Amino acid sequence: MTTKSQALLNWIDERFPLTSSIKGHLTEYYAPKNFNFWYFFGSLALMVLVIQILTGIFLVMHYKPDASLNASGVPVAFASVEYIMREVPGGWLIRYLHSTGASAFFVVVYLHMFRGLLYGSYRKPRELIWIFGTLIFLVLMAEAFMGYLLPWGQMSFWGAQVIVNLFSAIPIIGPDLSLVIRGDYVVSDATLNRFFSFHVIAVPLVLIGLVAAHIIALHEVGSNNPDGVEIKKRKDASGKPLDGIPFHPYYTVKDIVGVVAFLFFFSAVVFFAPEGGGYFLEFNNFLPADPLTTPPHIAPVWYFTPFYSVLRAVTYPLFGLDAKFWGVVAMGASVVIIAFLPWLDRSPVKSIRYKGPIFKTALVIFVISFFILGYLGVLPPTPGRTLVSQICSVLYFAFFLLMPWYSKLDKCKAEPERVNFK
Ligand code: HEM
Repeated sequence: MTTKSQALLNWIDERFPLTSSIKGHLTEYYAPKNFNFWYFFGSLALMVLVIQILTGIFLVMHYKPDASLNASGVPVAFASVEYIMREVPGGWLIRYLHSTGASAFFVVVYLHMFRGLLYGSYRKPRELIWIFGTLIFLVLMAEAFMGYLLPWGQMSFWGAQVIVNLFSAIPIIGPDLSLVIRGDYVVSDATLNRFFSFHVIAVPLVLIGLVAAHIIALHEVGSNNPDGVEIKKRKDASGKPLDGIPFHPYYTVKDIVGVVAFLFFFSAVVFFAPEGGGYFLEFNNFLPADPLTTPPHIAPVWYFTPFYSVLRAVTYPLFGLDAKFWGVVAMGASVVIIAFLPWLDRSPVKSIRYKGPIFKTALVIFVISFFILGYLGVLPPTPGRTLVSQICSVLYFAFFLLMPWYSKLDKCKAEPERVNFK
Protein backbone atom coordinates (compact mmCIF):
# COMPACT_ATOMS: atom_id res chain seq x y z
CA MET A 1 0.00 0.00 0.00
CA THR A 2 1.40 3.45 -0.89
CA THR A 3 2.00 5.96 1.89
CA LYS A 4 -0.86 8.08 0.54
CA SER A 5 -3.43 5.29 0.58
CA GLN A 6 -2.16 4.17 4.02
CA ALA A 7 -2.61 7.75 5.24
CA LEU A 8 -6.16 7.80 3.83
CA LEU A 9 -6.93 4.48 5.52
CA ASN A 10 -5.55 5.80 8.83
CA TRP A 11 -7.68 8.91 8.43
CA ILE A 12 -10.81 6.74 7.93
CA ASP A 13 -9.89 4.31 10.74
CA GLU A 14 -9.62 7.17 13.21
CA ARG A 15 -13.23 8.05 12.40
CA PHE A 16 -14.82 4.73 11.38
CA PRO A 17 -13.86 1.11 12.29
CA LEU A 18 -13.11 0.08 8.68
CA THR A 19 -9.96 -2.02 9.07
CA SER A 20 -11.14 -3.61 12.31
CA SER A 21 -14.53 -4.52 10.70
CA ILE A 22 -12.83 -6.10 7.68
CA LYS A 23 -10.57 -8.06 10.01
CA GLY A 24 -13.36 -9.06 12.40
CA HIS A 25 -15.79 -10.20 9.71
CA LEU A 26 -13.53 -11.33 6.87
CA THR A 27 -9.76 -11.69 7.07
CA GLU A 28 -9.60 -12.67 10.73
CA TYR A 29 -13.01 -14.28 11.04
CA TYR A 30 -12.18 -17.96 11.39
CA ALA A 31 -14.64 -20.38 9.83
CA PRO A 32 -14.39 -24.17 10.11
CA LYS A 33 -12.29 -25.60 7.30
CA ASN A 34 -14.68 -28.46 6.52
CA PHE A 35 -17.62 -26.53 5.01
CA ASN A 36 -19.28 -28.55 2.24
CA PHE A 37 -21.90 -28.06 -0.50
CA TRP A 38 -24.61 -27.19 2.02
CA TYR A 39 -22.73 -24.12 3.17
CA PHE A 40 -23.20 -22.32 -0.16
CA PHE A 41 -26.80 -21.41 0.50
CA GLY A 42 -26.32 -18.70 3.15
CA SER A 43 -24.25 -16.53 0.83
CA LEU A 44 -26.56 -17.40 -2.06
CA ALA A 45 -29.57 -16.23 -0.02
CA LEU A 46 -27.74 -12.95 0.53
CA MET A 47 -27.09 -12.65 -3.19
CA VAL A 48 -30.72 -13.35 -4.11
CA LEU A 49 -31.79 -10.72 -1.57
CA VAL A 50 -29.56 -8.20 -3.38
CA ILE A 51 -30.94 -9.28 -6.79
CA GLN A 52 -34.51 -8.82 -5.52
CA ILE A 53 -33.78 -5.36 -4.12
CA LEU A 54 -31.97 -4.15 -7.26
CA THR A 55 -34.53 -5.50 -9.74
CA GLY A 56 -37.33 -4.27 -7.45
CA ILE A 57 -35.95 -0.71 -7.56
CA PHE A 58 -36.11 -0.75 -11.38
CA LEU A 59 -39.57 -2.32 -11.47
CA VAL A 60 -40.96 0.40 -9.20
CA MET A 61 -39.81 3.01 -11.76
CA HIS A 62 -42.47 1.77 -14.19
CA TYR A 63 -45.02 -0.15 -12.14
CA LYS A 64 -48.27 1.58 -11.07
CA PRO A 65 -50.26 0.30 -8.06
CA ASP A 66 -53.65 1.27 -9.46
CA ALA A 67 -56.65 -1.06 -9.79
CA SER A 68 -58.79 1.34 -11.84
CA LEU A 69 -59.42 0.48 -15.47
CA ASN A 70 -57.55 2.25 -18.28
CA ALA A 71 -59.13 3.36 -21.60
CA SER A 72 -58.88 -0.22 -22.91
CA GLY A 73 -60.73 -1.57 -19.87
CA VAL A 74 -57.60 -3.21 -18.39
CA PRO A 75 -56.54 -2.53 -14.76
CA VAL A 76 -53.72 0.05 -14.75
CA ALA A 77 -51.49 -2.12 -12.52
CA PHE A 78 -51.82 -5.12 -14.86
CA ALA A 79 -51.22 -2.91 -17.90
CA SER A 80 -48.12 -1.35 -16.28
CA VAL A 81 -46.60 -4.84 -15.87
CA GLU A 82 -47.38 -5.59 -19.53
CA TYR A 83 -45.78 -2.23 -20.41
CA ILE A 84 -42.64 -3.28 -18.50
CA MET A 85 -42.63 -6.59 -20.38
CA ARG A 86 -43.14 -5.16 -23.86
CA GLU A 87 -42.06 -1.52 -24.00
CA VAL A 88 -39.45 -0.79 -21.32
CA PRO A 89 -35.98 -1.65 -22.71
CA GLY A 90 -34.78 -4.74 -20.81
CA GLY A 91 -37.97 -4.59 -18.75
CA TRP A 92 -38.84 -8.23 -19.48
CA LEU A 93 -35.47 -9.27 -18.06
CA ILE A 94 -35.82 -7.18 -14.91
CA ARG A 95 -39.33 -8.52 -14.33
CA TYR A 96 -38.38 -12.16 -14.93
CA LEU A 97 -35.27 -11.81 -12.74
CA HIS A 98 -37.57 -10.55 -9.96
CA SER A 99 -40.39 -13.08 -10.41
CA THR A 100 -38.01 -16.03 -10.85
CA GLY A 101 -35.87 -14.55 -8.05
CA ALA A 102 -38.81 -15.00 -5.67
CA SER A 103 -38.92 -18.73 -6.36
CA ALA A 104 -35.11 -18.96 -6.29
CA PHE A 105 -35.15 -17.24 -2.90
CA PHE A 106 -37.36 -19.96 -1.46
CA VAL A 107 -35.38 -22.79 -3.10
CA VAL A 108 -32.18 -21.38 -1.57
CA VAL A 109 -33.74 -20.65 1.83
CA TYR A 110 -35.36 -24.11 2.07
CA LEU A 111 -31.99 -25.74 1.32
CA HIS A 112 -30.31 -23.38 3.81
CA MET A 113 -32.81 -24.40 6.50
CA PHE A 114 -32.40 -28.07 5.63
CA ARG A 115 -28.64 -27.70 6.17
CA GLY A 116 -29.47 -26.42 9.67
CA LEU A 117 -31.54 -29.58 10.27
CA LEU A 118 -28.80 -31.86 8.95
CA TYR A 119 -26.02 -30.47 11.07
CA GLY A 120 -27.93 -29.30 14.14
CA SER A 121 -26.92 -25.68 13.46
CA TYR A 122 -29.86 -24.52 15.60
CA ARG A 123 -28.38 -26.07 18.78
CA LYS A 124 -26.70 -24.12 21.57
CA PRO A 125 -25.07 -21.55 21.16
CA ARG A 126 -26.84 -20.79 17.83
CA GLU A 127 -30.44 -20.56 19.07
CA LEU A 128 -30.73 -16.87 18.22
CA ILE A 129 -29.33 -17.35 14.70
CA TRP A 130 -32.10 -19.91 14.24
CA ILE A 131 -34.83 -17.72 15.73
CA PHE A 132 -33.80 -14.79 13.53
CA GLY A 133 -33.83 -17.28 10.64
CA THR A 134 -37.39 -18.40 11.39
CA LEU A 135 -38.48 -14.76 11.60
CA ILE A 136 -36.77 -14.10 8.25
CA PHE A 137 -38.71 -17.03 6.80
CA LEU A 138 -42.03 -15.67 8.11
CA VAL A 139 -41.30 -12.17 6.84
CA LEU A 140 -40.15 -13.56 3.50
CA MET A 141 -43.50 -15.32 3.13
CA ALA A 142 -45.35 -12.07 3.84
CA GLU A 143 -43.12 -10.26 1.33
CA ALA A 144 -43.76 -12.84 -1.40
CA PHE A 145 -47.50 -12.95 -0.70
CA MET A 146 -47.86 -9.16 -0.98
CA GLY A 147 -45.65 -9.01 -4.07
CA TYR A 148 -47.86 -11.54 -5.81
CA LEU A 149 -50.87 -9.21 -5.58
CA LEU A 150 -49.10 -6.41 -7.47
CA PRO A 151 -49.46 -7.65 -11.09
CA TRP A 152 -53.21 -7.63 -10.36
CA GLY A 153 -53.83 -10.81 -12.34
CA GLN A 154 -56.57 -13.34 -11.63
CA MET A 155 -54.39 -15.37 -9.23
CA SER A 156 -53.10 -12.21 -7.52
CA PHE A 157 -56.64 -11.13 -6.82
CA TRP A 158 -58.23 -14.45 -5.89
CA GLY A 159 -55.20 -15.73 -3.98
CA ALA A 160 -55.25 -12.59 -1.83
CA GLN A 161 -59.02 -12.92 -1.44
CA VAL A 162 -58.70 -16.49 -0.11
CA ILE A 163 -55.75 -15.80 2.20
CA VAL A 164 -57.03 -12.53 3.67
CA ASN A 165 -60.43 -14.15 4.28
CA LEU A 166 -58.69 -16.73 6.45
CA PHE A 167 -57.98 -14.06 9.04
CA SER A 168 -61.71 -13.50 9.46
CA ALA A 169 -61.89 -17.00 11.01
CA ILE A 170 -60.08 -15.72 14.13
CA PRO A 171 -62.70 -15.26 16.90
CA ILE A 172 -63.69 -11.74 17.96
CA ILE A 173 -60.98 -9.72 16.15
CA GLY A 174 -61.02 -11.74 12.89
CA PRO A 175 -63.55 -9.80 10.81
CA ASP A 176 -62.05 -6.43 11.77
CA LEU A 177 -58.54 -7.71 11.24
CA SER A 178 -59.24 -8.84 7.68
CA LEU A 179 -60.93 -5.50 7.05
CA VAL A 180 -57.78 -3.69 8.21
CA ILE A 181 -55.56 -5.89 6.04
CA ARG A 182 -57.73 -5.32 2.97
CA GLY A 183 -58.59 -1.69 3.70
CA ASP A 184 -61.99 -2.52 2.21
CA TYR A 185 -64.73 -5.16 2.34
CA VAL A 186 -63.25 -6.91 -0.69
CA VAL A 187 -59.74 -6.99 -2.18
CA SER A 188 -59.62 -3.65 -4.00
CA ASP A 189 -57.50 -0.66 -4.98
CA ALA A 190 -57.01 0.11 -1.26
CA THR A 191 -55.57 -3.40 -0.75
CA LEU A 192 -53.30 -3.01 -3.76
CA ASN A 193 -51.94 0.29 -2.45
CA ARG A 194 -51.20 -0.94 1.04
CA PHE A 195 -49.65 -4.20 -0.21
CA PHE A 196 -47.47 -2.13 -2.54
CA SER A 197 -46.34 0.08 0.33
CA PHE A 198 -45.55 -2.94 2.51
CA HIS A 199 -43.87 -4.87 -0.31
CA VAL A 200 -41.50 -2.09 -1.39
CA ILE A 201 -40.70 -0.35 1.91
CA ALA A 202 -41.86 -1.77 5.22
CA VAL A 203 -41.20 -5.48 4.81
CA PRO A 204 -37.83 -5.16 2.99
CA LEU A 205 -36.61 -2.89 5.82
CA VAL A 206 -37.59 -5.50 8.40
CA LEU A 207 -36.03 -8.23 6.27
CA ILE A 208 -32.72 -6.41 5.93
CA GLY A 209 -32.69 -5.70 9.69
CA LEU A 210 -33.33 -9.35 10.48
CA VAL A 211 -30.66 -10.56 8.05
CA ALA A 212 -28.18 -8.17 9.70
CA ALA A 213 -29.15 -9.52 13.15
CA HIS A 214 -28.84 -13.10 11.77
CA ILE A 215 -25.27 -12.50 10.60
CA ILE A 216 -24.21 -10.50 13.66
CA ALA A 217 -25.42 -13.39 15.85
CA LEU A 218 -23.56 -15.85 13.60
CA HIS A 219 -20.30 -13.92 13.86
CA GLU A 220 -20.67 -13.68 17.63
CA VAL A 221 -20.73 -17.46 18.15
CA GLY A 222 -19.06 -18.64 14.92
CA SER A 223 -20.30 -21.10 12.30
CA ASN A 224 -21.24 -24.68 12.93
CA ASN A 225 -19.96 -27.27 10.43
CA PRO A 226 -20.81 -30.72 9.01
CA ASP A 227 -19.20 -32.44 12.02
CA GLY A 228 -20.95 -30.26 14.59
CA VAL A 229 -17.60 -29.68 16.35
CA GLU A 230 -17.08 -26.33 18.10
CA ILE A 231 -13.83 -25.07 16.56
CA LYS A 232 -13.42 -22.38 19.22
CA LYS A 233 -12.64 -25.10 21.78
CA ARG A 234 -9.21 -25.89 20.31
CA LYS A 235 -6.95 -22.96 19.57
CA ASP A 236 -3.24 -22.60 18.80
CA ALA A 237 -0.80 -20.50 20.83
CA SER A 238 -1.84 -17.32 19.01
CA GLY A 239 -5.53 -17.93 19.80
CA LYS A 240 -6.58 -19.04 16.29
CA PRO A 241 -8.91 -22.05 16.10
CA LEU A 242 -6.91 -25.11 14.97
CA ASP A 243 -9.74 -26.19 12.65
CA GLY A 244 -10.46 -22.71 11.30
CA ILE A 245 -9.40 -20.78 8.21
CA PRO A 246 -9.92 -17.06 7.54
CA PHE A 247 -13.23 -16.40 5.80
CA HIS A 248 -11.41 -14.20 3.33
CA PRO A 249 -9.85 -15.28 1.00
CA TYR A 250 -10.76 -18.96 1.47
CA TYR A 251 -14.55 -18.83 1.64
CA THR A 252 -15.04 -15.66 -0.41
CA VAL A 253 -13.32 -17.53 -3.26
CA LYS A 254 -15.18 -20.78 -2.56
CA ASP A 255 -18.51 -18.91 -2.51
CA ILE A 256 -17.79 -17.59 -6.03
CA VAL A 257 -18.01 -21.20 -7.22
CA GLY A 258 -21.48 -21.44 -5.65
CA VAL A 259 -22.51 -18.12 -7.17
CA VAL A 260 -21.42 -19.18 -10.68
CA ALA A 261 -23.21 -22.54 -10.41
CA PHE A 262 -26.33 -20.84 -9.07
CA LEU A 263 -26.33 -18.18 -11.80
CA PHE A 264 -25.99 -20.93 -14.41
CA PHE A 265 -29.25 -22.61 -13.28
CA PHE A 266 -30.96 -19.34 -12.46
CA SER A 267 -30.24 -17.88 -15.94
CA ALA A 268 -31.43 -21.10 -17.57
CA VAL A 269 -34.82 -20.61 -15.89
CA VAL A 270 -34.97 -16.83 -16.42
CA PHE A 271 -34.19 -17.10 -20.13
CA PHE A 272 -35.84 -20.39 -21.09
CA ALA A 273 -38.64 -21.12 -18.61
CA PRO A 274 -39.45 -17.96 -16.62
CA GLU A 275 -42.96 -19.21 -15.81
CA GLY A 276 -41.45 -22.37 -14.32
CA GLY A 277 -44.14 -24.51 -15.98
CA GLY A 278 -46.86 -22.48 -14.27
CA TYR A 279 -45.29 -22.96 -10.83
CA PHE A 280 -43.33 -19.68 -10.67
CA LEU A 281 -45.90 -17.57 -12.53
CA GLU A 282 -49.28 -19.24 -12.66
CA PHE A 283 -51.06 -19.28 -16.03
CA ASN A 284 -54.17 -17.61 -14.60
CA ASN A 285 -52.06 -14.63 -13.63
CA PHE A 286 -51.64 -13.67 -17.27
CA LEU A 287 -55.34 -12.71 -17.18
CA PRO A 288 -56.26 -9.34 -15.62
CA ALA A 289 -57.98 -9.51 -12.21
CA ASP A 290 -61.73 -9.86 -12.58
CA PRO A 291 -63.74 -9.66 -9.34
CA LEU A 292 -66.74 -11.18 -11.15
CA THR A 293 -65.05 -14.35 -12.43
CA THR A 294 -63.62 -16.79 -9.90
CA PRO A 295 -60.97 -19.09 -11.44
CA PRO A 296 -62.06 -22.76 -11.23
CA HIS A 297 -59.07 -23.66 -9.06
CA ILE A 298 -57.16 -21.26 -6.81
CA ALA A 299 -53.73 -22.48 -5.67
CA PRO A 300 -50.94 -20.53 -4.00
CA VAL A 301 -47.44 -20.42 -5.47
CA TRP A 302 -45.41 -23.61 -4.85
CA TYR A 303 -43.42 -22.30 -1.87
CA PHE A 304 -46.57 -21.83 0.21
CA THR A 305 -48.23 -25.12 -0.71
CA PRO A 306 -46.88 -27.37 2.10
CA PHE A 307 -48.35 -24.97 4.68
CA TYR A 308 -51.52 -24.46 2.63
CA SER A 309 -52.03 -28.24 2.66
CA VAL A 310 -51.77 -28.24 6.47
CA LEU A 311 -54.49 -25.59 6.50
CA ARG A 312 -56.78 -27.63 4.25
CA ALA A 313 -56.06 -30.84 6.15
CA VAL A 314 -58.09 -29.57 9.11
CA THR A 315 -61.68 -30.42 8.31
CA TYR A 316 -63.26 -30.84 11.75
CA PRO A 317 -64.72 -28.11 13.99
CA LEU A 318 -63.60 -28.21 17.62
CA PHE A 319 -64.73 -26.43 20.83
CA GLY A 320 -67.47 -24.63 18.90
CA LEU A 321 -64.94 -23.06 16.51
CA ASP A 322 -65.11 -23.97 12.85
CA ALA A 323 -62.55 -26.00 10.90
CA LYS A 324 -61.31 -22.91 9.07
CA PHE A 325 -60.14 -21.39 12.36
CA TRP A 326 -58.27 -24.55 13.40
CA GLY A 327 -56.82 -24.78 9.90
CA VAL A 328 -55.36 -21.29 10.30
CA VAL A 329 -54.01 -22.26 13.75
CA ALA A 330 -52.43 -25.44 12.34
CA MET A 331 -50.89 -23.54 9.43
CA GLY A 332 -49.45 -20.88 11.74
CA ALA A 333 -48.19 -23.55 14.14
CA SER A 334 -46.50 -25.46 11.31
CA VAL A 335 -44.22 -22.45 10.71
CA VAL A 336 -43.80 -21.23 14.30
CA ILE A 337 -42.84 -24.70 15.58
CA ILE A 338 -39.62 -24.47 13.53
CA ALA A 339 -38.38 -21.79 15.94
CA PHE A 340 -38.56 -24.26 18.86
CA LEU A 341 -36.16 -26.82 17.36
CA PRO A 342 -33.21 -25.77 19.57
CA TRP A 343 -35.20 -26.93 22.62
CA LEU A 344 -36.84 -29.97 21.04
CA ASP A 345 -33.64 -31.70 19.96
CA ARG A 346 -32.10 -33.45 23.01
CA SER A 347 -29.54 -35.49 21.10
CA PRO A 348 -26.00 -35.55 22.59
CA VAL A 349 -24.53 -34.74 19.15
CA LYS A 350 -25.37 -32.04 16.60
CA SER A 351 -24.57 -33.45 13.18
CA ILE A 352 -26.56 -36.07 11.29
CA ARG A 353 -23.18 -37.78 10.71
CA TYR A 354 -23.18 -38.95 14.32
CA LYS A 355 -26.90 -39.19 15.02
CA GLY A 356 -28.56 -42.60 15.26
CA PRO A 357 -31.06 -44.44 13.05
CA ILE A 358 -34.18 -43.03 14.73
CA PHE A 359 -33.32 -39.40 13.99
CA LYS A 360 -32.27 -40.25 10.45
CA THR A 361 -35.54 -42.12 9.80
CA ALA A 362 -37.58 -39.30 11.35
CA LEU A 363 -35.83 -36.77 9.10
CA VAL A 364 -36.49 -38.84 5.97
CA ILE A 365 -40.20 -39.23 6.89
CA PHE A 366 -40.41 -35.51 7.61
CA VAL A 367 -38.89 -34.54 4.25
CA ILE A 368 -41.15 -36.95 2.34
CA SER A 369 -44.27 -35.65 4.16
CA PHE A 370 -43.21 -32.06 3.43
CA PHE A 371 -42.88 -32.83 -0.30
CA ILE A 372 -46.23 -34.65 -0.41
CA LEU A 373 -47.90 -31.73 1.39
CA GLY A 374 -46.32 -29.35 -1.11
CA TYR A 375 -47.54 -31.43 -4.03
CA LEU A 376 -51.09 -31.78 -2.68
CA GLY A 377 -51.26 -28.03 -2.05
CA VAL A 378 -51.28 -27.25 -5.77
CA LEU A 379 -54.06 -29.76 -6.53
CA PRO A 380 -57.80 -29.32 -5.96
CA PRO A 381 -58.86 -31.28 -2.86
CA THR A 382 -60.61 -34.67 -3.09
CA PRO A 383 -61.52 -36.90 -0.10
CA GLY A 384 -58.52 -39.16 -0.83
CA ARG A 385 -56.07 -36.23 -1.10
CA THR A 386 -57.45 -34.69 2.09
CA LEU A 387 -56.80 -37.96 3.94
CA VAL A 388 -53.22 -38.11 2.65
CA SER A 389 -52.63 -34.47 3.64
CA GLN A 390 -54.03 -35.24 7.12
CA ILE A 391 -51.60 -38.14 7.52
CA CYS A 392 -48.68 -36.03 6.26
CA SER A 393 -49.63 -33.12 8.54
CA VAL A 394 -49.60 -35.48 11.54
CA LEU A 395 -46.17 -36.78 10.47
CA TYR A 396 -44.94 -33.20 9.99
CA PHE A 397 -45.90 -32.21 13.52
CA ALA A 398 -44.78 -35.56 14.98
CA PHE A 399 -41.23 -34.88 13.73
CA PHE A 400 -41.10 -31.83 16.00
CA LEU A 401 -43.30 -32.82 18.92
CA LEU A 402 -41.82 -36.29 19.45
CA MET A 403 -38.24 -35.08 18.99
CA PRO A 404 -37.52 -34.61 22.72
CA TRP A 405 -38.07 -38.37 23.15
CA TYR A 406 -36.68 -39.98 20.04
CA SER A 407 -33.59 -37.73 19.94
CA LYS A 408 -32.77 -38.85 23.49
CA LEU A 409 -33.49 -42.53 22.88
CA ASP A 410 -31.38 -42.69 19.73
CA LYS A 411 -28.02 -44.51 19.63
CA CYS A 412 -25.58 -41.81 18.52
CA LYS A 413 -21.93 -42.20 17.55
CA ALA A 414 -19.32 -40.19 19.47
CA GLU A 415 -18.57 -36.78 18.00
CA PRO A 416 -14.90 -36.45 16.91
CA GLU A 417 -12.48 -34.11 18.71
CA ARG A 418 -11.47 -32.36 15.50
CA VAL A 419 -13.30 -31.73 12.24
CA ASN A 420 -12.96 -34.18 9.33
CA PHE A 421 -11.25 -32.54 6.42
CA LYS A 422 -9.85 -34.40 3.46
C1 HEM B 1 -32.91 -13.95 3.62
C2 HEM B 1 -32.69 -15.12 4.13
C3 HEM B 1 -31.39 -15.56 4.76
C4 HEM B 1 -30.12 -15.09 4.56
C5 HEM B 1 -29.68 -13.98 3.61
C6 HEM B 1 -29.24 -15.87 5.41
C7 HEM B 1 -27.87 -15.69 5.47
C8 HEM B 1 -27.00 -16.51 6.15
C9 HEM B 1 -25.58 -16.52 5.99
C10 HEM B 1 -24.78 -15.62 5.03
C11 HEM B 1 -25.08 -17.47 6.82
C12 HEM B 1 -23.60 -17.88 6.95
C13 HEM B 1 -23.24 -18.82 5.82
C14 HEM B 1 -23.79 -20.21 6.00
O1 HEM B 1 -23.64 -20.76 7.09
O2 HEM B 1 -24.41 -20.74 5.05
C15 HEM B 1 -26.18 -18.05 7.54
C16 HEM B 1 -26.09 -19.03 8.51
C17 HEM B 1 -27.17 -19.61 9.16
N1 HEM B 1 -28.50 -19.43 8.86
FE1 HEM B 1 -29.25 -18.11 7.52
N2 HEM B 1 -29.99 -16.77 6.14
C18 HEM B 1 -31.30 -16.63 5.77
C19 HEM B 1 -32.37 -17.36 6.24
C20 HEM B 1 -32.29 -18.34 7.23
C21 HEM B 1 -33.41 -19.11 7.72
C22 HEM B 1 -34.83 -18.98 7.20
C23 HEM B 1 -32.92 -19.94 8.69
C24 HEM B 1 -33.64 -20.94 9.56
C25 HEM B 1 -34.86 -20.91 9.96
C26 HEM B 1 -31.49 -19.70 8.81
C27 HEM B 1 -30.64 -20.34 9.69
C28 HEM B 1 -29.25 -20.23 9.69
C29 HEM B 1 -28.36 -20.93 10.59
C30 HEM B 1 -28.76 -21.90 11.72
C31 HEM B 1 -27.06 -20.55 10.26
C32 HEM B 1 -25.75 -21.05 10.91
C33 HEM B 1 -25.36 -22.25 10.13
C34 HEM B 1 -24.13 -22.94 10.60
O3 HEM B 1 -23.28 -22.30 11.22
O4 HEM B 1 -24.05 -24.17 10.35
N3 HEM B 1 -31.15 -18.73 7.90
N4 HEM B 1 -27.35 -17.47 7.11
